[in-house]
Amino acid sequence: MSQKFRNITGTYDILPDAYTVDGTRVEAAHTWRHVENRVRDVLEHYGFAEIRTPIMEPTELIARGIGEMTDIVSKEMFTFTRGETNYVLRPELTAPVIRAYLQHHLAQKGGVQKLYYMGPCFRAERPQKGRYRQFHQFGVEIIGVDDARADAETIAVMMRVYESLGLKELHLRLNTLGDSTSRPLYREALRAYFEPLSEKLSETSRQRLQTNALRILDTKNERERELLSNAPLLSDYIDAASREHYGRVKQLLGELGIQFSEDPFLVRGLDYYTQTAFELESPNLGAQNSLAGGGRYDLLAKEVGSKTAVPAVGFAAGFERLFLALEAEKISFPNLISAQVYIVALGEPAQAWAYSFASTAREAGLRVEFDLLGRSMKAQMREADRQAVSWVVIVGDDELERNEAIVREMATGEQKTVSFKAILQVLRASFPE
Ligand code: HAM
Repeated sequence: MSQKFRNITGTYDILPDAYTVDGTRVEAAHTWRHVENRVRDVLEHYGFAEIRTPIMEPTELIARGIGEMTDIVSKEMFTFTRGETNYVLRPELTAPVIRAYLQHHLAQKGGVQKLYYMGPCFRAERPQKGRYRQFHQFGVEIIGVDDARADAETIAVMMRVYESLGLKELHLRLNTLGDSTSRPLYREALRAYFEPLSEKLSETSRQRLQTNALRILDTKNERERELLSNAPLLSDYIDAASREHYGRVKQLLGELGIQFSEDPFLVRGLDYYTQTAFELESPNLGAQNSLAGGGRYDLLAKEVGSKTAVPAVGFAAGFERLFLALEAEKISFPNLISAQVYIVALGEPAQAWAYSFASTAREAGLRVEFDLLGRSMKAQMREADRQAVSWVVIVGDDELERNEAIVREMATGEQKTVSFKAILQVLRASFPE
């Protein structure tokens, strides 16, 4: 049968087992669940509560929040219109979370809101390893506090997630973007520096010079990086208060034993940042080496309609890149949710018994599977093996007549004959609740 429909480029299916597509491994659904649970566990230990927002948002929220001139808004949004409303499939969750925070007056609950999320995001980027059109993020936002401890806590919880999964090869980069006056001043200085050199710039950077000069700092082009070595430095344009805040963040990270390197060229691809900006990289991911990124964004709330400024800081991370990093460091997780017991039944009467025993055993809390295809004993045993079950219960006509089954423990290969009445007890004894 020819396959007419395929998944959209830049998206992929997550299947019960891992598979490889275009040289990239797509993890099994149970691995996703396992890693998601570990992430949740860490975030909740740090006092974050989950928030879930819609996948669709008003386009204007995202455009104003992230910035019209950013790559995300100017060329990577999946938008559509219904009636009078413009919708966008969310490219990230910071602007949506702030929208929800304002809409539901979460500030009135008093104190600081520490929220976490995970879910799909959409960006119309050119797909490649580690870069997709539908990808999955998790992240946190600490809303309502400008204290440097919140910045350090955001970075600390991010690091903890990766470390708790066993990752070691991590590189944290840190910078400060200063207050709302610093960036425009610096942007102008950069423009003035590059304007006479525009002949030497790539087409992309020449465009960025006009629209968003700071993005030139992201260049991977060798010649442009050379030009950057004489360019003005953002650190020379930072206001005193931001400098002090940055000093505190660095000191706190030091106290927590978190290693980082300072990168005066780190500006991030979203416009809402002020002060602290950071990115966590893995040296194993090639071009898409950013595992996670974030920073402080004290002006975003006002940008999307709040009358007062709401100081906030957060990070977001990509699950796909996390999986690539885990693969590179050879970290894997066993399937803990497959069947525990497989019933091998031979002949129709035994199949009928298997059917009803499976139901009883499931009600008793066991994960039980059996054959639906009437396959041979060998094929059923092979299936039990494939499913990596702990126990196999074997029933044929003879066993049925004697009201007993053969129960085999797969790890040892030992087997014994057990009466129907006692099977459940034997199995349950090996799976304590
Ligand atoms: P971001 O740097 O745009 O920041 O994205 C965060 C992470 O999402 C990246 O480091 C990467 O792991 C993953 N990611 C982004 N785009 C893709 C893609 N096309 N394919 C696969 N993974 C991708 C934000 O989204 C901000 N909201 C972070 C933040 C939270 N800032 C403050 N709070």
